[in-house]
Amino acid sequence: MTSSDPPVPSRPRSATIILPPAPPPPPTAARAAASSTVKPPENRDAPAPVAPNLAATPVPGEPTVTLTIDGETIEVRKGTNVLEAAKLLGRDICHFCYHPGLTIAANCRQCLVEVEKNPKLQPSCQQIVGEGMVVHTESPAVLEARRAMLEFTLKNHPIDCPICDKAGECTLQRHYMDHNHHLTRVDVAKIRKPKHKDIGREIVLDAERCILCSRCVRFCEEIPGTGELAMTFRGDHEILDIAEGHPLDNAYSINVVDICPVGALTSKDFRFAIRAWELKATPTTCQGCATGCAVELHHKHENAYRVMPRHDPAVNGHWMCDEGRYTYKELDADARIRHARVDGQQVPLDHAIAAVAKRLQGRNKKVAAVFSGTSTNESNRALDDLATMLGAERFVLGRPPGKTDELLRDADKNANMRGAIAAAGAAKHEGELGLELAGRAYDAVIFLDGTFELSEVVRSALGAITSVCLSDRVTALAQACAIVLPATSWGESLGTTINRQGRLRVLQPAWRPEGDRRDRADLIREIALALGERDLGSGRDRARAIAEEFDHDGLRQLTTTPAATRPTLLRFSHSRG
Ligand code: SF4
Ligand code: SF4
Ligand code: FES
Repeated sequence: MTSSDPPVPSRPRSATIILPPAPPPPPTAARAAASSTVKPPENRDAPAPVAPNLAATPVPGEPTVTLTIDGETIEVRKGTNVLEAAKLLGRDICHFCYHPGLTIAANCRQCLVEVEKNPKLQPSCQQIVGEGMVVHTESPAVLEARRAMLEFTLKNHPIDCPICDKAGECTLQRHYMDHNHHLTRVDVAKIRKPKHKDIGREIVLDAERCILCSRCVRFCEEIPGTGELAMTFRGDHEILDIAEGHPLDNAYSINVVDICPVGALTSKDFRFAIRAWELKATPTTCQGCATGCAVELHHKHENAYRVMPRHDPAVNGHWMCDEGRYTYKELDADARIRHARVDGQQVPLDHAIAAVAKRLQGRNKKVAAVFSGTSTNESNRALDDLATMLGAERFVLGRPPGKTDELLRDADKNANMRGAIAAAGAAKHEGELGLELAGRAYDAVIFLDGTFELSEVVRSALGAITSVCLSDRVTALAQACAIVLPATSWGESLGTTINRQGRLRVLQPAWRPEGDRRDRADLIREIALALGERDLGSGRDRARAIAEEFDHDGLRQLTTTPAATRPTLLRFSHSRG
């Protein structure tokens, strides 16, 4: 490692695995003890949290309703609301309190529309479609009601957009610019309410900005079922609050920040870190556990700032857990390994690959190949090919189990343990690897990932053999290995994982890797070529093959059209509120 790579921390940055501190048994005894194989986890058919509101798109075999919206006739699923039906026509009816993942409160009155034969304007979020219904979303009466409701909502709002964390992705800002745009007529002092109140482990409340839509209250009651938030007082003194001594500390609390249409609820981790409009969004998959929630990674240049949920009705619905939010910290630029290292010296990547090949070559060399539950299918499959070429013994390692619940979090904290086990075939687990390495059973070991925690016994055993680690960041394992190859992190990789349901999940690169960092499958391909073996193909080739194997259109497009992986610049149109 040289001055261009970061210093090695005294403790590993990512927790994990192994080892028995017991004295090492002799190699033969260790090999005899290591007879069991790693079992794939049970296929838990865990459904996503059910959304209470029906999507409007007709479902084959289910009843439909035909109605007219702004002169256009449309057929939608029976039981859906007018607001969702209008979305199918590309009409985004202005609204605050409605959220498709929550029950309907219809308290903001921002979504009023005109329904013919009905004397009063109706809230489109609550109005269920009817056969032959005729709806107007842009009539003079609707536009006036919309403007007046916005003026009412803004009456006591502090309008502190310049210092508000939500500015740039605030629904109130967006609707004001689209539908009101009038100067205030208020010439009396505004009602003052509590500002920057710490209401939980992750969240800060600014009650003056709250527009009392009750989305956050319904979320806590309906999704985690913890009900920490409630409205107190009445009229223009009404505020959102927690009960004394009962903070907002549930495992899904940061979702309230996403769904708050204004900047009343902000995340302690993200607030004041960067302006939302400076960020780009890349759709990808959370690497926090085996659930594999659909998420967006928000980043600027090569730095990640936050992870937000992406709607996936089959896996996570609209939500994600707080643990998953922090997975972006693994992408910390300060900890990245950008260049290869051989025996403590930074070397060009091709020198390091040649060193790996030279040390692996030779008759009767006993090699251990360590597959990883935190790496992609593409890299695990590439290691499978290399292990076959080398006649290597196979092991599968991963992170230790963690917290679980009935909603989303899985005890298996590896995003791809199913894929790793499928690629490795009959493999041994980490305890056996510890015993066998400590017993000097191998001449060389190749770690697909550098995030496994090692005991002193094994660390010292690595010094006596050829140890190769493909790592994206500085870890204790990377420091203990003789050769370190700079690999891309999940934020820079195009690849796939298989979640607990057996579904294929896609990882998309958010930025170009710096320095000599390469996809693990590409590094393994280089090692095979340096060994004089056949060309194993690139990581992208493998992703393309997996797209065909799983008949996955999205992945097929990503692997064939590089432009499809371009991130989206966050603007008002990407408001999450
Ligand atoms: S804090 Fe936000 S989500 Fe909660 S009621 Fe107020 S505006 Fe709505
Ligand atoms: S449940 Fe698992 S995959 Fe989903 S957000 Fe949490 S850590 Fe990530
Ligand atoms: S969104 Fe319909 S009343 Fe609030």
